[in-house]
Amino acid sequence: EPATLLADVTITVTAGPTREPLDPVRFISNHSSGKMGYALAHAALMLGAKVNLISGPVNIEPPQGVNLVSVESAIQMRDAALKLAGSSDIFIGCAAVADYRVAQVAEQKIKKQGDEMTITMIKNPDIIAEVAGLTKNRPYTVGFAAETQNVEQYAKGKLKNKNLDMICANDVSNQALGFNSNNNALTLFWHDDSVELGIADKQALAMNVLLEIAKRLDF
Ligand code: PMT
Repeated sequence: EPATLLADVTITVTAGPTREPLDPVRFISNHSSGKMGYALAHAALMLGAKVNLISGPVNIEPPQGVNLVSVESAIQMRDAALKLAGSSDIFIGCAAVADYRVAQVAEQKIKKQGDEMTITMIKNPDIIAEVAGLTKNRPYTVGFAAETQNVEQYAKGKLKNKNLDMICANDVSNQALGFNSNNNALTLFWHDDSVELGIADKQALAMNVLLEIAKRLDF
């Protein structure tokens, strides 16, 4: 690939899970490894872009040359995203952001109590929808949709409701794909088009996602 296709382009990618704290020693999270998002950041660098990588806690090394911003919670990820979105040409939300956070984070470790316990959670801000809703310097905004059923219908719903330019849908009901595995398969949806990217390793898929985005932009 030409290493200059995305020269002078700034891309911000979110990757990995968020951690929503319950108390100083516990959190609620998910199985995102960061592999898909880190592959996107790596592919963007290979195409000559300047890359910001906003990452939740993961166990993989960031690609060399990336501006890594490490965060834990969805609120922290939102703050980092809004700081960088306005100076980005493309924003890709690949992170598995928790939809809810614990309403009241305990200051001290929660003690064992009766036989049941109830945790009240409240909605987190929708980071990708906030980026797509920017009225000034709005980047080309790309989301991901992790679905276990009705993949096309739910992905298209998110494309529309979050006002995205594009969404990458993956079926995460198959354990060999999606969360944590090295391979994935994606269907890309725009408001008027779609492209099927069959099973491949995340590096190859990431490159193809970026080439599809580049085709649709005039820089
Ligand atoms: O990290 P890996 O192990 O490699 O796995 C990759 C992946 C399966 C996590 C990735 O391919 C993926 O699908 N990422 C999105 C996961 C997700 O949370 O999807 P969602 O359908 O719940 O969210 C839809 C979109 O809204 C996503 O772009 C998400 O980043 C965004 N979102 C969701 C909630 C929220 N509060 N803010 C958001 O910005």
